[in-house]
Amino acid sequence: MKLHERCQKVSGITRNLKDAGIYPYFRPISRSWGTEVEVAGKRLVMIGSNDYLGLAHDARVKEAAAQAIYSMGTGPGGSRFLSGNMAIHQNLEERLAAFVGKKRAVLHVTGFSTNMGVLGCLLTPSDYVLCDRENHASIFAGLGGTKKMGTFVHNDAGSASRKIASEMAKPDFDGQVLLITEGIFSMSGDVAVMDELGALKKQFPELLIYLDDAHGLGVLGQSGRGTANHFGVVEQCDFIMGTFSKAFASIGGFIASDHIDVLEYIQHQSRTQIFSAALPAASTMAALACIDILEAEPERVERLHAITTRMRNAYRDMGLRITESLSPIIPITIGTDEKAFMFAQELFERGIFALPAIYPAVPRGQALIRTACMSTHEDRQLEYVLDVMDEMARKYRIRVQDQDEDSGGEEAVGASSIAGARSSQSLL
Ligand SMILES: Cc1ncc(COP(=O)(O)O)c(C=O)c1O
Repeated sequence: MKLHERCQKVSGITRNLKDAGIYPYFRPISRSWGTEVEVAGKRLVMIGSNDYLGLAHDARVKEAAAQAIYSMGTGPGGSRFLSGNMAIHQNLEERLAAFVGKKRAVLHVTGFSTNMGVLGCLLTPSDYVLCDRENHASIFAGLGGTKKMGTFVHNDAGSASRKIASEMAKPDFDGQVLLITEGIFSMSGDVAVMDELGALKKQFPELLIYLDDAHGLGVLGQSGRGTANHFGVVEQCDFIMGTFSKAFASIGGFIASDHIDVLEYIQHQSRTQIFSAALPAASTMAALACIDILEAEPERVERLHAITTRMRNAYRDMGLRITESLSPIIPITIGTDEKAFMFAQELFERGIFALPAIYPAVPRGQALIRTACMSTHEDRQLEYVLDVMDEMARKYRIRVQDQDEDSGGEEAVGASSIAGARSSQSLL
């Protein structure tokens, strides 16, 4: 198929959605207060942000970023390898390593480029990589050239164990096995069974574990130290990867490990680190300020969990199909893609910002609205969201009882089967 024909497939879909007035993506936010945003002059409650701790609007974080611009300028002026390396980069790397419980960390300019660069430079054709099948697109992108890659059933350590055993039993196997999982899965909000995955190391001492903790950092563990800390398996995780684009209210990514030589290698071989500009000073200082705040104010994380529990209970009580987990990501199953678009549009019209995830990000017929809690949400905002959701759930017949009635008693598709979703490889 020719290039323009391929592109027309997507542009045709977006055009139809725009013509129908239900296209939900790329909404231009003109002002943000964190838990509320303005779009086209309309003020909305934000219930879909990854700024889980609300730190993007914390006065101390903003001041740190502003001061960084005054002392270091707005751009880095080069890659870290050459002219863009700043003392604050090194400071941030030390603080991050200590925060997640590792000896050393290496920064990248985004989380995506961390996975791309790190996975892209570490593996050889004889290595075997085993991914949770719901892993993020950046992980699969980083593994693009990997010869031997397998997936295991989402969040199922038994499935992972069987795959590792069968690969290692091959007579010619002489490589490294790397297991990769997310800490909190970005779409389903599921928390990885890190205790069980960590225990695989007893069975396979040579196994290496790579934890992408983009959504777990700042959210789980003591003072938000992440999913490995939460499960007490920091030691078992050889690599902990994180981003600043979620709870750390900035942009940037890092990889942390006790394998000092491997990190030295990554620093000099990761293509997205060597051939890309350094993290700007403002983003660097914002992330540093977030670590300071997390260490001093663990109650922010506690409040996030209290809000999440409250919302999860209320959604469940009103009959919505939601997943059960500790994470602030609460996807609500809607049904068909079209219904999810209409639902999101009405939410928008009623002053709520939350976006749909559709096939192939989730299985067909299980489109969802991805909601996410923030520790800075106010009671009045949460109450408003719940009132609107309750009304709309009845109207759109998305409650468990509606779906059971509509399917004539047959078991309706549950939110738990989001676990069967393919990873967010593409949105449309
Ligand atoms: C699990 C996971 N890993 C990596 C990334 C990429 O992070 P960043 O937004 O910093 O590029 C994301 C972003 O959504 C993510 O959810």
